Amino acid sequence: MEIVIVRDAAEAGRVAALKIASVVERKPDAVLGLATGSSPLGIYESLAARVEAGELDFSRASGFALDEYVGIPLDHPESYASVIRRDVVEPLGMDPARVRVPDGRADDIEVAAAEYDEAIAAAGGIDIQILGIGANGHIGFNEPTSSFASRTRIKTLAPQTRADNARFFDDPSQVPTHCMTQGLGTILDAHEVVLVAQGSAKASAVAGMVEGPLSAMCPGSALQLHQHATIVVDEEAAALLTLSDYYRYTYANKPVWQRFEH
Ligand code: F6R
Repeated sequence: MEIVIVRDAAEAGRVAALKIASVVERKPDAVLGLATGSSPLGIYESLAARVEAGELDFSRASGFALDEYVGIPLDHPESYASVIRRDVVEPLGMDPARVRVPDGRADDIEVAAAEYDEAIAAAGGIDIQILGIGANGHIGFNEPTSSFASRTRIKTLAPQTRADNARFFDDPSQVPTHCMTQGLGTILDAHEVVLVAQGSAKASAVAGMVEGPLSAMCPGSALQLHQHATIVVDEEAAALLTLSDYYRYTYANKPVWQRFEH
């Protein structure tokens, strides 16, 4: 794991965006794994500014969303299909036909989930997976006790996750109880992952993910098994890391050939 501690939330988005940009520059038809929620918004804004400036082109890239609510209409403004279109596809100039979101409305959820994993594999796998982390340590919507081997499937949202996501809905009771999410095994198959976390509410989850034991109680800790995971956190989210001086030292002394900033 590479841990990058930055000043604030805006810097976290900017630095993580550099990582994604470097993948798309190297491979214009890259396959991106797309998270929703607040954490990656700075990444998408930073990438969109570079698209606007003519420095980056996502028109040949494709994308797979991490998750989708189950039991919410497709055109609901908070369905992840709507959020991905609004926050990612349109601002980045992606081809909507190349971007998929799990089908939370499928008659047969199990078949739809299996087909989603098959589609990712058929696309050659995810080149870079963007992630946030929940306050309870979830990545995707793999809530605590999710299997590290899990594939895309239906999950019940933890009460804390529903409460955290209530800010996106007019009424907390409207937050769906279920979702379809890439599994931890699906996420671990991505060639590279970049996770961003900002704010003190994430500090405990970040510490568990990076320095805690491998444990299904902190699903993010599964990333310790990934060969190429970059964790970009602001000072507040890094507050409970015991080796933060070491992470700063490592990043400051990165050899030029390993740097992703230009
Ligand atoms: C989003 C997702 C979740 C969020 C997490 C953090 O697609 O899968 O894991 O990344 O709940 O949410 P925010 O970023 O809103 O704090």
